[in-house]
Amino acid sequence: MSSSASTAPSVLLNNGVRMPLLGLGMYKLWGWEDVLQAVDASLAAGYRAFDSAAVYGNEADLGRALKSLLPKYDLTREDVFITSKLGPKDQGEGAMEGALHSLSNLGMDYIDLYLIHWPGTRGLDVTDQRNPGNRAQSWAALEELHARGKLKAIGVSNYTPSHMRELMGSCKVRPAVLQVEFHPFECQAELRRVCQEFGVCFQAYSSLGRGELLTEPQVLQVAESCQRTPAQVLLRWAVQQDVPVLPKSSNPERIRENCRIFDFTLSDGDMGKLSALNRGQRFCWNPSQVV
Ligand code: A2P
Repeated sequence: MSSSASTAPSVLLNNGVRMPLLGLGMYKLWGWEDVLQAVDASLAAGYRAFDSAAVYGNEADLGRALKSLLPKYDLTREDVFITSKLGPKDQGEGAMEGALHSLSNLGMDYIDLYLIHWPGTRGLDVTDQRNPGNRAQSWAALEELHARGKLKAIGVSNYTPSHMRELMGSCKVRPAVLQVEFHPFECQAELRRVCQEFGVCFQAYSSLGRGELLTEPQVLQVAESCQRTPAQVLLRWAVQQDVPVLPKSSNPERIRENCRIFDFTLSDGDMGKLSALNRGQRFCWNPSQVV
């Protein structure tokens, strides 16, 4: 990969912003030393995108790590693409403050992409009828910060097709991205159709199924036949469908391994074998009960 966000393999979002196809997922990446080491290894390997969230508790360390490391790689803030997310506790009337808090935690003038992390609200039951109103209020706050240039792109995460349709029916600014769990066990066909219909970029998290898919026999077989690692095969399966990925690793060697996915192609047969594993199985949280 080349050295800046503008030349790393990327997709064009519906607001004209380019987003790298590969970013470092930062869920469960905690503590200054670990964040610094992971960001350093990622920048050295060519990653130009970092995916944080208020609930990950690492926005401040990410901002600090980038400030200290970007000069080492002759990069500036504009060369990296930063995503963060509004925590479920700030859904609704706390949304403006929550987003401003993310900006100050990161120590940045703007965030490249800011997502509503979850369709529900912390403290409310999933069936609580206040959930839709809170989502709408959060979206209005994100739209306002988008208009002020503080959030370059806005989107959502963990939304179901019905949450997406609700948002598309009421938004002034279309979401640029939907980020959800996506791997061969959970191919999300309906959500991908909805995203295509509305011009929303579909982005994957947990491409490795929290590591569980790395020992799946079919994945191992494809990996052996193309002389790649299981992780590379799973990530390649997604990017070969133009789906951006966010593998999480705190290990520099695995960080390097996970970015070597743009120099090989899976055959149609291997793509088909992996897609045939689809069984609607998730390893992360399931939003389908949230009204
Ligand atoms: P670690 O941070 O110790 O590398 P997902 O992105 O699906 O949530 O998966 C993340 C999990 O997979 C983490 O536990 C991470 O552990 C592990 N992981 C990430 N990359 C690799 C890899 N290339 N090989 C093996 N395990 C990996």
